[in-house]
Amino acid sequence: MQERVRDLRRAFDADLAAAGDAPAVAGLRARWLGRKDGLLTVLLRDLRDVPPAERAGAGQAVNALKQHVEQALEEAAAAQASSPVTASLVPLEMSLPGRRLPPGAPHPLAQVRARIEATFLAMGFALEVGPEVESDRYNFTALNIPPHHPARDAQDTFYVEGGLLLRTHTSPVQIRTMERQRPPIRIVAIGKVFRRDPFDATHSPMFHQVEGLVVAEGIAFSHLKGTLERFCRQVLREDVRLRLRPSYFPFVEPGAEYDVSCIFCTGTGCGRCKGSGWIELGGAGMVHPAVFEQVGIDPERYTGFAFGLGIERIAMLTLGIDDIRLFFENDLRFLGQFPG
Ligand code: PHE
Repeated sequence: MQERVRDLRRAFDADLAAAGDAPAVAGLRARWLGRKDGLLTVLLRDLRDVPPAERAGAGQAVNALKQHVEQALEEAAAAQASSPVTASLVPLEMSLPGRRLPPGAPHPLAQVRARIEATFLAMGFALEVGPEVESDRYNFTALNIPPHHPARDAQDTFYVEGGLLLRTHTSPVQIRTMERQRPPIRIVAIGKVFRRDPFDATHSPMFHQVEGLVVAEGIAFSHLKGTLERFCRQVLREDVRLRLRPSYFPFVEPGAEYDVSCIFCTGTGCGRCKGSGWIELGGAGMVHPAVFEQVGIDPERYTGFAFGLGIERIAMLTLGIDDIRLFFENDLRFLGQFPG
């Protein structure tokens, strides 16, 4: 028995030396003094089996060990309570300056997007959103895009399971809005679009568009022109001129592409506008009567205009960026140049 007590004492001292924090000391208490099978509890119980002649000596030894254990645990717990910084932490050097996190900023595309949104909101437009995964009907059919149109080609469009696709433009939001809402309508929708384009300096398989739609009685082409001009002057340069060229999109008639006078050379011709003096911005036109019929709006009573705009395009122009890939590489050396 005496020998067992000696061994246990050694074991306890080793346990205690290894207990580095408060939970470890609490664990030790349970292990040694636990009511049912704590090591000391068991030892005391076993005292009954010691022959009577040896019992007094053994009892003394066990009691001495018990006192030792209780006192040591008490001291360890007290020491830990008075020192919240445990040995596992490096000493606290209060005089060191704090570690400053570099300030973040919205992504340059988010900054440009916010400016575009604010400009349209100030012009009385409401913001709309639509899904990035679309059906053929919203992306093509309801927009009067015929079955054989090349844009539907798997070469140009990402098709996903279930007959769905990644929208190739934000124009499906026109249909969704007109299905939900009767004229007058004046909305812009901003979001991601996807095309099977190469990833090079001027193309990205994912980019962002702004869609605009205005429908009411008496809306004319001049309203479209005035809106675009006002927008471009607000976002690009106060003195830009707007140019509309006839073009074809199945969901507008007449349709146009629109350019602004080059913001770098103000129209005399430079490298940025390839000597033409003009920079192409997007497509636009008057809502096609066939589109109104798709959504049950009377084309005899209402007219409207729609336009599309690339956010990367505007961002590259206003921030002076010549490679679209920079927006998507998340290189902090690039992003850090736009503190917002
Ligand atoms: N959706 C067309 C495109 O992506 C742009 C457009 C929008 C044209 C609205 C006319 C009217 O290219």
